[in-house]
Amino acid sequence: MNFKLKNIPSQKGRIAIVTGANNGIGFETTLAMANYDFKVIMACRNLAKAEKAKSDILQKMPDADLDILQLDLSDLESVKAFANNFKNKYNQLDVLINNAGVLIYSGKKNKEGIELQFATNHLGHFLLTNLLLELMPDNSASRIVALSSIAHKEARIHFGDLNCETTDDKGAAYGQSKLANLMFADELNRRLKKNNKKIIALAVHPGGSDSGLFDEMSKVMYYTFKILSPFILHSNASAAKPTLFAALSPEVKGGEYFGPQGFMEFRGKVGVAKRSDYSKREDIALELWQLSEEMTEQSFEV
Ligand SMILES: NC(=O)c1ccc[n+]([C@@H]2O[C@H](COP(=O)([O-])OP(=O)(O)OC[C@H]3O[C@@H](n4cnc5c(N)ncnc54)[C@H](OP(=O)(O)O)[C@@H]3O)[C@@H](O)[C@H]2O)c1
Repeated sequence: MNFKLKNIPSQKGRIAIVTGANNGIGFETTLAMANYDFKVIMACRNLAKAEKAKSDILQKMPDADLDILQLDLSDLESVKAFANNFKNKYNQLDVLINNAGVLIYSGKKNKEGIELQFATNHLGHFLLTNLLLELMPDNSASRIVALSSIAHKEARIHFGDLNCETTDDKGAAYGQSKLANLMFADELNRRLKKNNKKIIALAVHPGGSDSGLFDEMSKVMYYTFKILSPFILHSNASAAKPTLFAALSPEVKGGEYFGPQGFMEFRGKVGVAKRSDYSKREDIALELWQLSEEMTEQSFEV
């Protein structure tokens, strides 16, 4: 791969949305995108945290062009309101980074009774993308980037039990949601291609980084994680690199999946990431797509 993040030309005039921009990998992604002169819309559920993140970025980069719009991905009404607010202010979207996510299984559900990881990580982003796609110029620099995870590899879509209530595996719901992120990117890209669109949908995983994702772990797990993470994981800034590569490299193709290439794929240079055979199944991706349309009561134009 010849592409270098440091060689990216100014992206002035282009607009990006980063979900979960206030913390961790989303914060670093926002900072880097602003540095490339994107106007970055910080799509965050907590406005106070978003304002703090924005002012942290402006301190480092006074010229950063940032806007905050409220978005709670677990709430379909909030996703619709966000899309309307965005469309009232802007008439173009160049890059959509579906970054926000929750890791720890709480058993909590949204208003519609959907478990929060599936609702937030997958369904909210599915609807958001659906509502914003029409604003994307039809060229290969227009990107939809999904944040998946190594955790997708052992996962399945539990069509009969999307809330993962019949399993004792507390990681099943997160794995399922990250698998859904990857399969949604694939299916979206297949549909874009079929419709002769040049817009690219693709996925990445960030490896591992000590972000806010692990804050809700049990105390023992949390402190073990804090001790080990500096030795095996990388920084949130490094974890943002696969996202930036997918969003900006002219070398990428739709449907590709990138991540770090080093120790256990936790860190290292960005390259093509390993994925499970299950994640490649087009029949499952199609079933997930149709179910997501039913659950969001919204069908994709593409
Ligand atoms: N860090 C890792 O090791 C790792 C590994 C694999 C994949 N990932 C993926 O990377 C992405 C970024 O995570 P991170 O590691 O940067 O974690 P993080 O620091 O916890 O950031 C997650 C972001 O998502 C936001 N968010 C959570 N629920 C939301 C909701 N309902 N609506 C809108 N925003 C919501 C959070 O907002 P609040 O601040 O309001 O909670 C926060 O801004 C996630 O998709 C995650 O699955 C991370």
